[in-house]
Amino acid sequence: MASKYAYSYSLAFFFIATIVSAQLSSTFYDTSCPGAFHIIKYIVNDAVAKEKRMGASLLRLHFHDCFVNGCDGSVLLDDTPTFTGEKTASPNNNSIRGFDVIDTMKSHVEAICPQVVSCADILAVAARDSVVALGGPSWTVQLGRRDATTASFSAAKSDIPKPTFDLSALISSFSNKGLSTADMIALAGAHTIGQARCISFRNRIYNETNIDSSLATSLQSNCPSSGGDNNLSPLDASTPTVFDNYYYKNLVNNKGLLHSDQQLYDGGSTDSQVTTYSQNMVKFYTDFAAAMVNMGNISPLTGSSGEIRTNCRKTN
Ligand code: HEM
Ligand SMILES: *[C@@H]1O[C@H](CO)[C@@H](O)[C@H](O)[C@H]1NC(C)=O
Ligand SMILES: *[C@@H]1O[C@H](CO)[C@@H](O)[C@H](O)[C@H]1NC(C)=O
Repeated sequence: MASKYAYSYSLAFFFIATIVSAQLSSTFYDTSCPGAFHIIKYIVNDAVAKEKRMGASLLRLHFHDCFVNGCDGSVLLDDTPTFTGEKTASPNNNSIRGFDVIDTMKSHVEAICPQVVSCADILAVAARDSVVALGGPSWTVQLGRRDATTASFSAAKSDIPKPTFDLSALISSFSNKGLSTADMIALAGAHTIGQARCISFRNRIYNETNIDSSLATSLQSNCPSSGGDNNLSPLDASTPTVFDNYYYKNLVNNKGLLHSDQQLYDGGSTDSQVTTYSQNMVKFYTDFAAAMVNMGNISPLTGSSGEIRTNCRKTN
C-alpha cells in the first residue's frame, strides 16, 4: 500500500512539475539573477547609441531563433564537427548580426550569476530593450527558456519566411509556428526599423508593378539590376531608425520594400489590419507587444531540457 501511495504521489508531482515547468514566467530570475536585466538594458542602449541599426539586428535575432526549433538560443551556436549551425543558412548568411553584442551581455551576466540566465532569454530581453531603445512599446518578457545543445541549418533554411513569399505562404509559415495571421501582420511591423540587402528586393524594384514608381527609381541607384547584392536600403525609408507605424503607412502607399511586405496590403484579406495600424500607432504597439510574447512562447526548452550555456556560441 505504502509504495502504491508513494507511486501515485510521485506521479501526481511529476504531472504538476511538468505543467509548471512548461510555462515561462516573468519572475523566473527574481531571486536567482535580478541584476541581469539592468546589464542587458545597459548594453542594448550602449550598442544602439553607437549604431541605431543594432536595435533592429537584435530584434531579428530573437525572431530567427524562435522560428527554428523554438526560442532556444540555437541561432547563436557556431558550427561544430557534429552539426552545421544556422548562421550560414540562406536567410541568415551575410545578413544576421549582433552576435558580439550578445556575447558582451552573456559575459557580464555570467560574471554576476554564473550559469543561471540562458542565451535564449537574453535574446528575448534584448529584443524588447531594442524596441524600447528605438522609441517603441515595452512589454513584460516571459522567462525560463533553456538553451539548445544543437542547431539546425536545414530548419533555418526551411522555416524562416522568405521575402519572395506571397500572402498565403506567409500565413502558413506563421501558422506552422502556432502564430495567427493577426500576429503575423503585427510582427511584420518590426520592418519599421533596420535594413535589407539589394538581393532581397531587387526583383521587386525592377519587375513589380505594385510599387510606387518614385520609390523604385530611387532604390535602383544603390541596387543595380546586377551586382551590389549586399548594398543596403532601409526597410522603412520614411523613419528608418524609429519604431513607429510608418511601415504600415508605407504599405498603404505601395512603398513596401520587400515583396513579402507589400503582400500584406495588396487587395487581400490583410489590408484592413494594415490600414488600422497605419492610422492607429497605439493599436499597433499593443498588438505588437502581445504578438512578441506569443512568438517568444514558441517551443521553449524548460525544466531539465537543454542547458544554460556559459558561452552563447558553444554548448557546455
Ligand atoms: C513576415 C515575414 C518576414 C519576412 C519574409 C522577413 C524577411 C526579412 C528580410 C529579407 C530582411 C532583410 C535581410 C537582408 O537582406 O539582409 C529582413 C530584415 C529584418 N527583419 Fe524580417 N522578415 C519577416 C518577419 C520579421 C519579424 C517577425 C521580425 C521581428 C519581429 C523581423 C525583423 C526584422 C528586422 C528588425 C530586420 C532588419 C535587420 C537589420 O537591419 O539587421 N522580420 N527581414
Ligand atoms: C555564405 O556566404 C559566403 C560569403 O558570401 C559564401 O562564401 C558561402 O558559400 C555562403 N554559405 C552558404 C552555405 O551559402
Ligand atoms: C525580372 O524578371 C525576369 C523574368 O522573371 C527575370 O529573368 C529577371 O532576372 C528579373 N529582373 C530582375 C532585375 O530581377
